Amino acid sequence: MLLDARDPAAAAATQAVHQAARALADGELVGMPTETVYGLAARADDDAAVAKIFAAKGRPADHPLIVHVPDVGSAQVFAADWPAVAQQLAARFWPGPLTLIVPRAPGVAGASAGGQDSIGLRCPSHPVAQALLREAKALGVPGVAAPSANRFGRISPTRAAHVVEEFGDALLVLDGGDCEVGIESSIVDCSRGRPVLLRPGVLTRRQLEAAAGQPLADRDEAAPRASGTLEAHYAPRAKLRLMAGPMLNTALQMLEGSTLKLAVYSRTVPAKAVRGLRHRVMPSQASQAAHELFSALRELDAEGVHLIWVEEPPADPEWDGVRDRLQRAAAA
Ligand code: TXA
Ligand code: MG
Repeated sequence: MLLDARDPAAAAATQAVHQAARALADGELVGMPTETVYGLAARADDDAAVAKIFAAKGRPADHPLIVHVPDVGSAQVFAADWPAVAQQLAARFWPGPLTLIVPRAPGVAGASAGGQDSIGLRCPSHPVAQALLREAKALGVPGVAAPSANRFGRISPTRAAHVVEEFGDALLVLDGGDCEVGIESSIVDCSRGRPVLLRPGVLTRRQLEAAAGQPLADRDEAAPRASGTLEAHYAPRAKLRLMAGPMLNTALQMLEGSTLKLAVYSRTVPAKAVRGLRHRVMPSQASQAAHELFSALRELDAEGVHLIWVEEPPADPEWDGVRDRLQRAAAA
């Protein structure tokens, strides 16, 4: 069921947030807007409620979830230690699209953490998410575990309607409008001494390193299994291929006469006009490309194309998050 909270000043939105907070407190699942993507939320301190997330997503129970909190103080409820680098990053980027991994407080949110001795924490900036987390906190909910509200391995949702597509109408979904950022949060692991960038997002490595006051290490083989870091992820049904612009044009020439239904998602218009080709322009600004990436892939998929050929984003670090998601979609 969709609850309209798009206009935070409207009485209906207040009522919607109230109903959703109540449902969370009662151990139910809620589709929740954030500035990055929609989350499938349950109270983080209730293992039975969290188990419903894993069941609904079809996600292995050892994949840790991110716990969403209204403020830094609430984050510390879940942390055994709050390293200086976590504090610096939180002070600069919270509320916002950044998840921090810190050592987990013993006996707290074990199911949410997928059994890890660390925990992922994020304070989202979306006003509806903030209102929901604050109201849930007032009802005794210390934090809300929420992975992206898609079935395991599928494209993350950036609109309330996408969440309904994934889980049907029985789920209570708070509609907070289109997600502004459009790709999932950057993740920095602060639990292992030297901070590690586990997942790129829209915050650039340079911004993160400036706030951390030190370089970030790259994800390595020692990182725990994490679904967002599996090779194949964010997959549309169509086969997605990532190609440099000139390569894409050459490949199009070779497709002449084929009956395959093809979509091209590129910053430049393909030089070769192929009959029936569906072309969609990728924005030339990284933030705009991130904003529409997942809904663009969903729309092309819904048109029933067999292939989606995507032009490689520029090498610029601003594009790291978008490039990462496209590479994973192509690996599926
Ligand atoms: O933007 C986001 O982060 C969205 C919204 C809903 O907040 N959430 C999201 O959750 O993307 P999910 O479950 O799709 O991705 C969570 C990522 C996974 O890659 C997971 O492995 C990692 O966070 N993660 C969570 N806790 C972790 C931990 N203790 N250690 C290492 N990685 C962790
Ligand atoms: Mg996800």
